[in-house]
Amino acid sequence: MARPATLHDYVVTSRPQHPSEGSERRQPTVAVARAARLLATAGIESPRVEAELLAAHVLGVPRGRLALADRLSPDQLERYDALVARRVAREPLQHLTGKAAFRHLELAVGPGVFVPRPETELLAGWGVDQARLRACDPTAGGGQGATGGPLVVDLCSGSGAIALAVAQEAPAARVVAVERSPAALAWLRRNAADRAAAGDRPVEVVAADVTDPGLLGELVGRVDVLLCNPPYVPRAVQVPPEVAAHDPDEAVFGGADGLDVIRPVLARAAQLLRPGGVLGVEHDDTHGAAVPALLAADGRYEEIVEHRDLAGRPRFATARRRSPASCRTPGAAGGSGPVGPVHAEDTDRAGAWQTGSS
Ligand SMILES: C[S@@+](CC[C@H](N)C(=O)[O-])C[C@H]1O[C@@H](n2cnc3c(N)ncnc32)[C@H](O)[C@@H]1O
Repeated sequence: MARPATLHDYVVTSRPQHPSEGSERRQPTVAVARAARLLATAGIESPRVEAELLAAHVLGVPRGRLALADRLSPDQLERYDALVARRVAREPLQHLTGKAAFRHLELAVGPGVFVPRPETELLAGWGVDQARLRACDPTAGGGQGATGGPLVVDLCSGSGAIALAVAQEAPAARVVAVERSPAALAWLRRNAADRAAAGDRPVEVVAADVTDPGLLGELVGRVDVLLCNPPYVPRAVQVPPEVAAHDPDEAVFGGADGLDVIRPVLARAAQLLRPGGVLGVEHDDTHGAAVPALLAADGRYEEIVEHRDLAGRPRFATARRRSPASCRTPGAAGGSGPVGPVHAEDTDRAGAWQTGSS
């Protein structure tokens, strides 16, 4: 297991470096250089990137234009130093700028909502692909016909990252986003309204508990693609300061073994999905075997696949809802087709996967 003994790696990683970074054209200001040193001393993983992102935020320019921007005015310098001090105190960068990048979106985030992680872009991308595959299927959406499009459900929606990415990138889809936390719902509704105003197909927001056995009763047997990034960190695991102090507990921790939300979600998803519908669920990197095993034990899923992230860690599991005729009794032998998990061998992360390596 790649995890350090005490510190969970559930931290928001910074974006990869801009191509111009390190080139001679980029002349950092004294303030940015000083901020980068302070951030490095505070243990920030990408201090230079974050110092530049904060400067770009204060100057109101994209980071790539920083070298061409005016120097910081005295007022701006004061604001910049204050933001750097808050980052040194391990306030998340995204709370300081008020926004988080996710695929092609810029989402509003702040206190009370989980900051979307780059790793989750993989699950969202898989969901986009699945929704697009079903865009022309007249039986999608539980028989709504071609105008209805595929029905996609995002459980534990938080800021709406996954739901809004699917709505933007698979415009034929009808997307339903479910969240329980009132604080997160406020951010979700704000982001959903912003994206609808920008021209994306509106996402339907539902306030509900995803562990409720009667969740989304009107959609039983109709969902084409069900996605979920639940809270999944085991309770005893130590998380970085940004996460511990600023991500809501209910967004991060999934009970003693981390599977408290995943278990009921897998059970309800099997009822919500239509036969042939697909499920994608993100999980802790220690659950690369446990979640596929839960899916297999349920008996209503087939084509169970475990996917790794860019760092090669188990990240999300996918499966297809069997047709009722081919369902197994949970725990019983037999049934049609393979029920055990297989590993993704052909992903967009060439070389990241070795079959059977987990
Ligand atoms: C890890 S965050 C994921 C947020 C978003 N989907 C993303 O990928 O950035 C988990 C979210 O699930 C929500 N949540 C936790 N338990 C829930 C429950 N029982 N029902 C509904 N939402 C829940 C939390 O409030 C949080 O917003």
